[in-house]
Amino acid sequence: MASIAVCPGSFDPVTLGHLDIVTRGAKVFDKVIVAVLNNRSKQPLFTVEERVQLLKEVTKDLPNVEIDSFDGLLIDYVKEKEASAIIKGLRAVSDFEYEMQMASINRKLDENVETFFMMTNNKYSYLSSSIVKEIAKYHAPVADLVPNIVEKALKEKYSSVT
Ligand code: PNS
Repeated sequence: MASIAVCPGSFDPVTLGHLDIVTRGAKVFDKVIVAVLNNRSKQPLFTVEERVQLLKEVTKDLPNVEIDSFDGLLIDYVKEKEASAIIKGLRAVSDFEYEMQMASINRKLDENVETFFMMTNNKYSYLSSSIVKEIAKYHAPVADLVPNIVEKALKEKYSSVT
């Protein structure tokens, strides 16, 4: 049976840190589904469709990676996709408490789904979508933090902000 993992997140927008986790996860699992949460309570910079499109472009050379979006509980989506694993990246100790809570609740909801944590590459340990947006908003360079196409998309979003 093929091993399928879901890598969930907001991806608003995808960063080089996310891409590092997805690329490494795709070496371990037969298929990785990157799933963008359609979170209506948050005010994202990019629409779900834009986030999905950016993810599709930056993962186009990874044949066993699929991009999708989901609503509702992650565990329901994982089961719908017949996946057996959730992949999460851990940047620092500060991520640990929240991620442990999420992994524990997801295990309580379905003990057959395992959460796998991967340590983010050290060079991206400080990186987050929020930090990238903050920098891009003030027109400072983000070339080392996100793929080129995301840098371009950020420039377009913030072109009217001074
Ligand atoms: O990139 P993010 O914003 O840190 O990703 C968070 C995400 C999408 C992984 C998390 O919010 C999530 O799984 N949301 C779906 C709702 C859910 O299943 N919550 C956990 C049980 S209460």
